[in-house]
Amino acid sequence: MNILLLGSGGREHAIAYKIAQSPKCQQLFIAPGNAGTKACGTNVDIKNDDFPAIKQFVLENSVQMLVVGPEAPLVAGIADFFKNDPQLSHVAVIGPSKHGATLEGSKDFAKQFMQRHGIPTARYQSFTKDTLPQAVEFLKTLNPPYVLKADGLAAGKGVLIIDNLPQAEAELHNMLENAKFGNASSKVVIEEFLSGIELSVFVLTDGRHYKLLPSAKDYKRIGEHDTGLNTGGMGSVSPVPFADKAFMQKVEQRIVVPTVQGLQADNIDYCGFIFIGLMNVAGDPYVIEYNVRMGDPETESVFPRINSDVAELFQHAANGTLDQAELQINPQTAACVMMVAGGYPESYRKGDIITGTENVSESLVFHAGTKLNADNQLITNGGRVICVTSFADNLEQALAKSFSSVDKIHWDGKFFRSDIGQDLLNL
Ligand code: AMP
Ligand code: GLY
Repeated sequence: MNILLLGSGGREHAIAYKIAQSPKCQQLFIAPGNAGTKACGTNVDIKNDDFPAIKQFVLENSVQMLVVGPEAPLVAGIADFFKNDPQLSHVAVIGPSKHGATLEGSKDFAKQFMQRHGIPTARYQSFTKDTLPQAVEFLKTLNPPYVLKADGLAAGKGVLIIDNLPQAEAELHNMLENAKFGNASSKVVIEEFLSGIELSVFVLTDGRHYKLLPSAKDYKRIGEHDTGLNTGGMGSVSPVPFADKAFMQKVEQRIVVPTVQGLQADNIDYCGFIFIGLMNVAGDPYVIEYNVRMGDPETESVFPRINSDVAELFQHAANGTLDQAELQINPQTAACVMMVAGGYPESYRKGDIITGTENVSESLVFHAGTKLNADNQLITNGGRVICVTSFADNLEQALAKSFSSVDKIHWDGKFFRSDIGQDLLNL
């Protein structure tokens, strides 16, 4: 089978790495990919929003499976585009319909879904410019800190957590009246603050059956001890020590099962990943958000732990036979440390020469923002540049291996967080 994977980040390198191991995969294409994905298949220069170009490529190269890494093409309806085109409808698409992708594309839609299906989440209400006075009244019924969320996609920046009421009111005005996040904040979800520790749970579903993939914890802030600006993610570990059997049973019964049943009850066509962002509030799981794709950098610690053939799993998902699939997970701990360009997540430089990746032997090296220059040298090409993932029997050893590998890779301005996973060691 020929497979086309869409995306260009560390997530896609990790997915490509696993797909390339499958005897079922004849040719793997990655669009557009990065310097690292070249080791797993063939990079093709097609933009993820250029559906006609994707179609042409799929037909010319007898692609039988499309795996969608990021959310944007899903929210734009790529799964429906394939399903509704007689020349493409035979292609297995791993990624939900546009309707399903609304679980990530609209926070209000996701909250209504959770409410309708009795899935635990923070108390909330949604407002528009026309209901601004009611929004202010609702804010006053909540205790600080106040959580304001732009309804639409805002590149991970659309959530504000604010300590005092006057500032929360001012930001609410900014979002609804001054389009702080453009069209994404024409509707705002205001919700109760949940206090606890976060984790990410991943599910692969065919719309009826599901497989629970390993859970992970990611580290979003740029600075040590979760300080400073939010980033795309500075590292991840899997499994999450506090997500023990009893906790994961609650997650499955209270959240995963009603989510998959809810998709069916609402006639939502869904074959793909559900990424459930959870808060563990005193031992009880609450949904913070749904994403309709894998997480980045969670994938870089989750996917390497999957021992089963992922192309076969995807085939089962596409055929509606996930109940017959076998999922084998490596019980070891995986720890991923992301290396970023100096200045990230604010302005940063691209084009710095990267050295030393060939000296890493104890870890997997996943590329994110990298490319080869005209002289075939590896250079930085994004904020998150490269991550390393290591396995060990415990978290402490996995982290030690990853930090030792990080020390072997260099470029001007390289930065990473040296406290990834530390909070979990001291629990
Ligand atoms: P989201 O984009 O919905 O994942 O929100 C971004 C981040 O804001 C989450 O990862 C949480 O750290 C935080 N957050 C979102 N909603 C809440 C909430 N209701 N209570 C506490 N923290 C939240
Ligand atoms: N690591 C969080 C995300 O992928 O959205």
